[in-house]
Amino acid sequence: QHILVLHGPNLNLLGTREPEIYGRQTLADINARLQQLAAERAASCAAFQSNSEGALVDRIHAAREQAVDYIIINAGAYTHTSVAIRDALAGVAIPFIEVHLSNVHKRESFRHHSYLSDLAQGVVVGLGALGYEAALHYALAN
Ligand code: DQA
Repeated sequence: QHILVLHGPNLNLLGTREPEIYGRQTLADINARLQQLAAERAASCAAFQSNSEGALVDRIHAAREQAVDYIIINAGAYTHTSVAIRDALAGVAIPFIEVHLSNVHKRESFRHHSYLSDLAQGVVVGLGALGYEAALHYALAN
C-alpha cells in the first residue's frame, strides 16, 4: 500500500511554532514515526510539505500517477480557504483523511469550517501528532 502524507503551510515550523498549541514534535519526527509504522506493515509512506497552495495541488495530481492508495492531509490554513485543494482531492478521487493537530473547533470561528471535511473519509482533530498515527492505522486497514 502507498500512503501519501501532505502537510500544508507553516507545518515546517512544527516544534517551535506555538508549541502550546501544536506540540514540540518536529515535522521530521512525525514523518519518521509514520514511515516506521508503515514499514512495520510492509507499506510505504511518502511525506510532502509545502507552503504553497499550487505545489500541494500538483502533488495531489502526481499522487494519482503514482497509484497512491490513501492520502493523509493536514492542509493547515488552506483547510479553511482552499477550493483548489478540495477540487484536486475530488479530482483524483483518492480516499483521504483530514488531520489537525489542534482542536480547531475550540479555536477561532474561522477555523471551524473546512473545505475538505465533507469529502474526507474521516477527520481527526485535537489529538496532536497521534492523530496522524490514527489516520495511518486506519488507512492501512482499509
Ligand atoms: C492546523 C489548524 C489550522 O487552523 C492552522 O491554520 C494550521 C494547523 C492544525 O494542525 O491544527 O496551520 O491545521
